[in-house]
Amino acid sequence: MAHGPGPRAHATWHGAEHHRPKPDGPERGPSDSAATNSAAPDTLLDLASNDYLGLSTDPRLKAAAVDAIERYGTGARASRVVTGTQPVHAELEEELCGLTGQPAALAFSSGYAANLGILTALGGPGTLIVRDEHCHASLIDGARLSRSPVEVFAHGDLAALDRLLAGRSQPRAVVVVESVYSVLGDAADLAETARICAKHDALLVVDEAHGIGVAGGGRGAVHSAGLAGAEHVVLTATLSKALGAQGGGVLGPAALRAHLVNTARSFIFDTGLAPAAAAAAAEACRIIAADPSLAQAVLGNAAIIAQVCGIEQAAGAVQSVPVGRAEDAAQLAVRLEAAGVLVGCFRPPSVPDGISRLRLTARADLAPEQVQHAARLVAGLVAGMVPDKADGMDAARMGRGRDELPRGFGSGRGA
Ligand SMILES: Cc1ncc(COP(=O)(O)O)c(C=O)c1O
Repeated sequence: MAHGPGPRAHATWHGAEHHRPKPDGPERGPSDSAATNSAAPDTLLDLASNDYLGLSTDPRLKAAAVDAIERYGTGARASRVVTGTQPVHAELEEELCGLTGQPAALAFSSGYAANLGILTALGGPGTLIVRDEHCHASLIDGARLSRSPVEVFAHGDLAALDRLLAGRSQPRAVVVVESVYSVLGDAADLAETARICAKHDALLVVDEAHGIGVAGGGRGAVHSAGLAGAEHVVLTATLSKALGAQGGGVLGPAALRAHLVNTARSFIFDTGLAPAAAAAAAEACRIIAADPSLAQAVLGNAAIIAQVCGIEQAAGAVQSVPVGRAEDAAQLAVRLEAAGVLVGCFRPPSVPDGISRLRLTARADLAPEQVQHAARLVAGLVAGMVPDKADGMDAARMGRGRDELPRGFGSGRGA
């Protein structure tokens, strides 16, 4: 078996089962139960959003978005492969490459669509997809839609990954991980994962949704692992978290981009990304590339949350405070909101019973004193409500939170 990204790595993309574009009927989504956020943004400290760098309200992004609306209108008007591609899409793709060090990029209308697109374009009966059990729902759905055989390895278990790849019968394999996992906030060992993939001639897809803007001085974890431009590594991104906009992207070799344009159904049968979002995300890329202190600031604030709450610091912006009972987690979130702090609350069905948690998102645009104030409120309320934490946020015990999810957990993501 060839070691390293040889010609078969390319064959993986070109030889992938092509799902012939077929005009399907209108897709039905779930009923719209999303409530409007009633929070008063001026009075609440928001530690629940994914706006890690605070860029969604940055005047430079707003100006870029307004300018794009003036130039191109409010919508892309058509699929990118018909008449929906505007110069602003090329600008965004260039800036994404500049930030991450990847040779080519393709912008999608969301990170979800990007993950569906890459996995359906690469997958098929001759391609084994092997994914970490904590992968996001969009990666799970992409693997399902691809009609590939799928194997799932225990979270972070690279020996299991190695065995699955060694024992495969399919000619091609695609390995799927996240650089920073969304609920627990732990980081994948990308260098070792890439080495194992190269050894078995597999393509590695890394979802950098929580890595870009935060890891590697903002350029992402793939870049900081020295894997930018590696032929057998592909990256997916969302533009809606650290980049403060909306949309998604796939980044990798130019041949892969061309393959996606011709085969990724969530690209072909989807209206192009709105010009305003594309321009705002392009501006965010420029800002992050020029200013690594933004990523330092978010990690500095994350360290404050971890230290005050007595938990092990997670690799990204999101810090996860274990609470245990779902009712306690829900009540704590309500009490914190009443006290002026918005936090995320993960409880069943998003996580299994007994391991509910509060999620606190560090943001670069908050002063350390604000973050400390909020974290102290959280620590105090959690200690008061959760009996076995009444002696304070015992670091040794609370630190176990990141390891306590049982095997099979997928943050409400299904198999
Ligand atoms: C790991 C991961 N991938 C993909 C997505 C989807 O991104 P988007 O919201 O842009 O569709 C998310 C969003 O929550 C995510 O956390």
